[in-house]
Amino acid sequence: MNQHTNPQSIAQQADHLEEEMMHELERVVSKSTLHYLADGEVKMDTSAGLWAKHPGAVFNMGPDPRLPPMPAKPTLIDYFKCRFAQHAHLLQSATHALKAGHDEKIILACLLHDIGVVSFIRCDHGYWGAQMIEPYVDEEVSWAVRTHQALRFFPDEAAGYKYPEMYIKLFGDDYKPEPYIVAEYERARNHKWYMTSRLICVNDIYSFDPNMKVNLDDFVDIVGRNFRQPEEGLGLDSSPSAHMWRTMMWPNRFL
Ligand SMILES: [Fe+2]
Ligand SMILES: [Fe+2]
Repeated sequence: MNQHTNPQSIAQQADHLEEEMMHELERVVSKSTLHYLADGEVKMDTSAGLWAKHPGAVFNMGPDPRLPPMPAKPTLIDYFKCRFAQHAHLLQSATHALKAGHDEKIILACLLHDIGVVSFIRCDHGYWGAQMIEPYVDEEVSWAVRTHQALRFFPDEAAGYKYPEMYIKLFGDDYKPEPYIVAEYERARNHKWYMTSRLICVNDIYSFDPNMKVNLDDFVDIVGRNFRQPEEGLGLDSSPSAHMWRTMMWPNRFL
């Protein structure tokens, strides 16, 4: 085909590529409403709409062949390797905590503090991350991951945490945390586990060095001792957050 005689718009080219991909996949993959919302559209994939484009097709109800395959009984480490979009920041943060001689609960909290962002969703990442790990870790760890969402906006210089310069760059100097974040901070600051969450923030802000050498293998034993890996595989168990891990494993199952 000659581009000059039959120019395709970017949208047509994208449709064409999607079409080819569907044939390769055999099963039609659909997107959740949340994926469209993130692109600024309030819409959803429907069976009628998908059949109009792919007559008689069946819909994907399992793994997406475009993503790295997960083992039959996945562990947290498998999610790190196959689903987390980035783990240098988490490993750097945990490495700081390890070198500072903190106990394993704090090291684990640092290692997992942003899993909400790297695997799932940015908005309220502390809450999502805490909910994902809650059934599998000590309550102090998930509490700290949840509340770092709020504490990171409030300095505590005596504990070694200033308001990060980076936040001024990221959010502007007029950003004010919403009332639910202020209320969360106020609840957290007098809590018995306050320092666990504060130490996530202290190790967090120094953890964006692209040259720091980190290795997931250094944390396998700490994860083994402090994260209750379900026998059936993480996400294939019946915990209250197993569905979140399954969603990460199979993000575009039709239902
Ligand atoms: Fe965070
Ligand atoms: Fe972080």
